[in-house]
Amino acid sequence: MKGRILVTGGAGYIGSHTAVELQNAGYEVIILDNLSNSNAEVIDGIERITGIRPAFVKMDLQDKEALRQLFEDYPGIKGVINFAASKAVGESVKKPLLYYRNNLVTILNLLDLMPDYGVEALVFSSSCTVYGQPDILPVTEEAPIKPALSPYGNTKQICEEIITDTIHAGAPFKSILLRYFNPVGAHPSAEIGELPLGVPQNLLPYVTQTAMGIREKLSVFGDDYDTPDGSCIRDYIHVVDLAKAHVKAVDRMLNGESADAVEIFNLGTGKGVSVLELIKTFEESTGVKLNYEIVGRREGDITKVWADPEKANKVLGWTATETLADTLTSAWKWQQHLREKGIM
Ligand code: UD1
Repeated sequence: MKGRILVTGGAGYIGSHTAVELQNAGYEVIILDNLSNSNAEVIDGIERITGIRPAFVKMDLQDKEALRQLFEDYPGIKGVINFAASKAVGESVKKPLLYYRNNLVTILNLLDLMPDYGVEALVFSSSCTVYGQPDILPVTEEAPIKPALSPYGNTKQICEEIITDTIHAGAPFKSILLRYFNPVGAHPSAEIGELPLGVPQNLLPYVTQTAMGIREKLSVFGDDYDTPDGSCIRDYIHVVDLAKAHVKAVDRMLNGESADAVEIFNLGTGKGVSVLELIKTFEESTGVKLNYEIVGRREGDITKVWADPEKANKVLGWTATETLADTLTSAWKWQQHLREKGIM
């Protein structure tokens, strides 16, 4: 065993895939989750994939005393990966206080208690949303932070600042801030994947639900952008690749390899893919025809963003390896699994 890692939000989409990769790498995983946007059966999926059942504590990370009790019950936690957060951009505009409270109180509780229990490392889930529409593409970690377009995006910027300020003030742990581009896909076993509640807001769940006949038609939000085919461009990264980067980040901090107490890495493939290209690749790789129509632009969407992942490649020793076709196929396989199970 390499040591105990607390994965907050570990029953969620990216958290569950990361729990799998941590266990594959020999870490002992403790999952904390309030199940507000996930399901306890995910723990069974992690066990089926890895053969190891992670410890699971159902609690709200806003409850500081419950967090203290968790650290008492599981002594020797070496690292924390914080996925526990609300993440729907549109909802955050309607319910800003919910987002500020949930996403900020939770990080404050962790930062308060980590030193009391000797935790050495914190990985924080941030987002390329902090760059807004970058002036230069691909976007590096040096690109300026732009004013946030939503309370959700603002919480990511504020959390990055809170962590950085706390460490610069002498907190006895290190942190790595990971800026994700667009995580998509599912574990190839189809045991775990993304489970959006209600009507999906993100592209790929909408694509797979339309392919399954759950949604009648996919709306492509705009074909009059300044891009080769007019639709928006993003950097879609397979969630398993993304999960593996978290293991690298934890290894780096616990092995004393960090160059600075706070480090930032972009996690993307380095390739920009338009909405229409994604649809075409989905149709070609799954053999399923997608019903879609072009509609007007969605408010708040940026035109194009993709990562310069060179720092993560060279410094973290991590590279995204999955192809877009395999990534989209994994998402489709997961959607079929949900149908077979009668979930969706
Ligand atoms: C957004 C957030 C990001 C957040 C992520 C996950 C911004 C700028 N980005 O990413 O920070 O981490 O959600 O919640 O706030 N699209 C359609 N039809 C659909 C859905 C989407 O055409 O039904 C298009 C969008 O216009 C966009 C692309 O697909 O061009 C990707 O959209 P989405 O999956 O929602 O992710 P982002 O908006 O890039």
